[in-house]
Amino acid sequence: MQAVVIDSGSVRAGERPDPVPSESELLVAVEAAGVNSADLLQRAGLYPPPPGSPVDIPGMECAGTVVAVGTNASRHRVGDRVMGLVGGGGQAELCLVEDSVAISVPSHLSWPEAGGFPEVFTTAHDALFTQCHLAAGERLLVTGAAGGVGLAAVQLGREARASVVASVRRAELRDAVHTFGPEAVIDPDDEASHGPYDVIIELVGAATLGAHVKALSTGGRIVFIGVGGSGSRSEIDALQLMAKRAVVRGSTLRSRSLADKAATRVALEADALVWLAREAVRVPVEAVYPFGQAQEAYERFAAGGKLGKIILVSEPA
Ligand SMILES: NC(=O)c1ccc[n+]([C@@H]2O[C@H](COP(=O)([O-])OP(=O)(O)OC[C@H]3O[C@@H](n4cnc5c(N)ncnc54)[C@H](OP(=O)(O)O)[C@@H]3O)[C@@H](O)[C@H]2O)c1
Repeated sequence: MQAVVIDSGSVRAGERPDPVPSESELLVAVEAAGVNSADLLQRAGLYPPPPGSPVDIPGMECAGTVVAVGTNASRHRVGDRVMGLVGGGGQAELCLVEDSVAISVPSHLSWPEAGGFPEVFTTAHDALFTQCHLAAGERLLVTGAAGGVGLAAVQLGREARASVVASVRRAELRDAVHTFGPEAVIDPDDEASHGPYDVIIELVGAATLGAHVKALSTGGRIVFIGVGGSGSRSEIDALQLMAKRAVVRGSTLRSRSLADKAATRVALEADALVWLAREAVRVPVEAVYPFGQAQEAYERFAAGGKLGKIILVSEPA
């Protein structure tokens, strides 16, 4: 099969053996696969894939048609349209997806939208609801809100009837972010004046942790999901945490067990997939590139200033 392969710090098209499904896996003919910052880190040799995933084919999510099923894979059949999280290898003509993790693609969703759904919506959903127990009526701050995870978090928070504040550093993207339904779209410098917040999802980094602890309400929760924007180190006043009975936590998805990943799929089905099927939430796609232009797609991701996702799509045979 053709695949995007990592080669000396770049990505290029290459030939790799067709994968063979185990008894619990689906073999998927990939139509679209999202690009994520983990792929860029892996390209740079900084984020090795978990055991069992292809070592040099990036891609943490994909969508396509099932072409073969393992003997114990009973949730899907050949011909089904599926999307799902994978430990790696999503950016290839063929990809193995665990049956227990695979999600049926709603009929209205395009392939690029389906290819960009699993990673950012699973991450945002897990952070908001499983980690931070966001409830209706609570106030949510989403940092880095114009990106893939950010726009997922804004929409999920809104649908859960939280009051959502979206923090976006680029003024030219704020009107577009507003169309995803937050109560306010603000400059990061104005975050404190729009609080206090019950939940803060940190997609930028730790530099603002001290200010964010200060901006929490009593019983507030902060969850670290990404630190690529401002780094992983910070100093906080523990007395403020104590006084507010606040929680600061962190979470990653990729290294989790199969059972944990299947649990995230079940959690999504309870509400987010219903909202997606109803078109109440959407997958914002900034740009689509064929697999053969993976290097350009990665550079577009790295350049920033995008609204949502960068997607790779398979090329006609
Ligand atoms: N823990 C997990 O399991 C998990 C899963 C998925 C993603 N992540 C992480 O979560 C983060 C967000 O992912 P994503 O896919 O949404 O990335 P993304 O699409 O690149 O979005 C990141 C957003 O943060 C903004 N940003 C970057 N540096 C900033 C700064 N210093 N101040 C203010 N805003 C800044 C970017 O704005 P510009 O466009 O202006 O640069 C962009 O809008 C990444 O760090 C990623 O690695 C973690």
